[in-house]
Amino acid sequence: MAEHPILVLDSGIGGLPYVSAVRSLMPAASFSYVADHAGFPYGERDPADLRHRLLQLFALLIERERPALILLACNTASVVALEALRERFALPFVGVVPAVKPAAHHSRTRRIGVLATARTVEERYLHDLVQQFAGECVVVTQAAGEIVRLVEESYGAPAPQAVRRCVGEAVGRLVEAGVDSVVLGCTHFIYLLEELQRLFGPGVTVIDSREGVARQVQRVAGNHYSAGRGGLAEDADSLYTTGRCSAGLESLAARFGFDKVLEL
Ligand code: DGL
Repeated sequence: MAEHPILVLDSGIGGLPYVSAVRSLMPAASFSYVADHAGFPYGERDPADLRHRLLQLFALLIERERPALILLACNTASVVALEALRERFALPFVGVVPAVKPAAHHSRTRRIGVLATARTVEERYLHDLVQQFAGECVVVTQAAGEIVRLVEESYGAPAPQAVRRCVGEAVGRLVEAGVDSVVLGCTHFIYLLEELQRLFGPGVTVIDSREGVARQVQRVAGNHYSAGRGGLAEDADSLYTTGRCSAGLESLAARFGFDKVLEL
């Protein structure tokens, strides 16, 4: 196991694109990734139950992985549990929340869409975020949790027709609402960025939080990884699943630099 990795967690594969964004800023960092498949999908869980699950899971993971910092690469988990996790554990947690602030900067029509899980859309956290950073904009939220399963089951590569079938209505509602910027408020949606941009058309900019989150991880990590990593074989980055390993998961993990896939 690499020493003091960045511990990244999502309900599934949604956090992997965030690992790439962090790697590109911090090539010397090491990662442990946890896909909580046994708890998937987070967007359909009761919030108190999800908070409890995450507090228990992190108690185990922190003891085992000794991370330098934690990237909670899931909007649903962040809006529901980030505060409780920061209170419980004396480690830096970087959360992933919908990129409402960049969208407010970008929007000319002052009309913004947020596409997320039903849980994220309902949470007070998102409403506070909107008040704080997009108070002068009309923000139209749209739940689209069905995409999460589609992405997870296809290892990030669903057929374009299936995507259209699944999100056509949600996209149509946001277009009708006249938004010119749409925030991807669920990490799984990043896999569909190009397809979603095509569906929204050139009048709408699809925005995600990878860049801002990666910069925040870099700031919080400080110079922790500046000396580089040892390069020993045991230092290979590991991806853990709380569910079952599969060939599909292994090949996706390898694409994101995780040479080992293990059941937790
Ligand atoms: N990827 C997670 C998010 O960012 C949620 C997916 C789920 O419902 O498990 O919201």
